[in-house]
Amino acid sequence: NTLYIAVIVGSFRRDSLNQKLADALIQLAPPELSFSQVKFDDLPPYNQDDDEHQAASVLRVKSQIQSAHGLLFVTPEYNRSIPGVLKNLIDHASRPYGQSVWAGKPAGVLGASVGVLGTALAQQHLRNILAYLNVPTMGQPEAFIHAKEGFWTEDGHIGTTSLGFVQGWMDQYVSWLRLHVQGKTP
Ligand code: FNR
Repeated sequence: NTLYIAVIVGSFRRDSLNQKLADALIQLAPPELSFSQVKFDDLPPYNQDDDEHQAASVLRVKSQIQSAHGLLFVTPEYNRSIPGVLKNLIDHASRPYGQSVWAGKPAGVLGASVGVLGTALAQQHLRNILAYLNVPTMGQPEAFIHAKEGFWTEDGHIGTTSLGFVQGWMDQYVSWLRLHVQGKTP
């Protein structure tokens, strides 16, 4: 009973801290979780006029999300909110009206920042959006990652100082996911 998880990273940046966090986090998951990252840097800007003929890239991301049991959001904070590209993805996959692929997919939310608030405000905005889309989000533990010296090892794993915390987050996510997806097919 593999759980398929769609990973959504809110940064397209080559050396993204959030991509690095997502990659390291996935390494801490048990083998019964299978992750696939949603690639969405080719989505057009959302336009409601296109709802009846969504672009191939939009249909592709919708189908990838649809076929997942759960979601993992790892996002930067931009100007105290989520990046526009992430909102664009969320809007695309919520439409046309009545054909949202988000509803009921349990989600973990976390993010890394160079600032001490560690994406706290972006995560709160994201939770607000997801609540409307009927995506349950794990409430605790929260993970506001301040990406400072030593957070990662040289080879991109979580460093010793934070490993216990991040592993604890993953363990909790796995048991919380199981509660939400019991007996459900994506
Ligand atoms: C930022 N950054 C930022 N950081 C933060 O903690 N709160 C914020 O509101 C913002 N705002 C913001 C806006 C814009 C447009 C940019 C480009 C950056 C800094 C941000 O945390 C930093 O650039 C991270 O490295 C971005 O994440 P990735 O791309 O490394 O995953």
